Amino acid sequence: ENPIRIGLLGIGTVGSETARLLIEDCEELSARVGRAIELVGVACRNPDDVDFPWLDHGLLTTDTEALCRRADIVVELFGGLEPARTMVTLAMESGASVVTANKALLATYGPELYRTAAAHGVDLYFEAAVGGAIPIVHPLRESLAGDRVEWMLGIVNGTTNYILDQMTTEGLDFDVALKQAQEQGYAEADPTGDIEGEDAANKAAIMATLAFHTNVVLRDVTAEGITSITAEDIEAATAEHKVIKLLAVMENDESGVSARVYPALIDERHPLASVHGSFNAIFIHARAAGDLMFYGRGAGGAPTASAVVGDVVTEARHIAQGCTGPSIPMYLDLPKAPLDAA
Ligand code: HSE
Repeated sequence: ENPIRIGLLGIGTVGSETARLLIEDCEELSARVGRAIELVGVACRNPDDVDFPWLDHGLLTTDTEALCRRADIVVELFGGLEPARTMVTLAMESGASVVTANKALLATYGPELYRTAAAHGVDLYFEAAVGGAIPIVHPLRESLAGDRVEWMLGIVNGTTNYILDQMTTEGLDFDVALKQAQEQGYAEADPTGDIEGEDAANKAAIMATLAFHTNVVLRDVTAEGITSITAEDIEAATAEHKVIKLLAVMENDESGVSARVYPALIDERHPLASVHGSFNAIFIHARAAGDLMFYGRGAGGAPTASAVVGDVVTEARHIAQGCTGPSIPMYLDLPKAPLDAA
């Protein structure tokens, strides 16, 4: 039997950790799947710039299209809208299932991508797109599909949580803390989206879509980042026994569905106040389940790769067993609360 062919798009912070896991743990992962899996190619812009001791240079290619056509599972870790959208679509049209960590792509083109997946009988996985290593997509999409999620509250951007935490606990300057977050691989290639709240807004859109069974996209989310937070703001909060956290707040109530991202003052005894560094946390309140809480590493190469490879193993098992993957969510036509109804 031929191995299940995996094509990886991107070899950045998450891509390199994903490649390393797929190569170094190949035998063990294959055993868990029940059939051999094989990383058959890694698409990147400049193969000459890539040098990892565990990576066979021959796997690197600039021909993303050809890789998408010959893989059984395409793992998209380019990030950004293009060429990710074109390549993910091409992969699905060629019969490959897709695993992605691309929040912006899903928050912008989620429904379109689901339709493409359904039309071609393939699957689309994105556990790594929200909360890094934290299992949150599966719980929202599958485990809670029979309940009614009423609201969610989360710290879903590791970079800003790291910056605010370092400013609070170490008295670091914003710029120094941001630089550290970049060095540790938490920030996006362009960290503007992190600090201005767009990354958290993308995640809020994805979570609201799954939890509320309606289509929420980035432009439905109001977002304010942390660029205006000063050392004085932090000091004032500390004096009042409070901490500043960048929160995503998602609700489905009588006024409609809403998702907002903004820096909030939280009492230092609140559980979210003890979410430090690049960690993320998400609270969910559902009618029958009551309160749920998810916590873990929300950014960084290895934690995010954990979620990516989990999706790869899940889909590889489905291929090996000839069954299908996650169901396609149906979007209900729910009213959206006015954007400024905060
Ligand atoms: N830049 C993102 C963050 C990475 O800081 O949370 C994880 O999505």
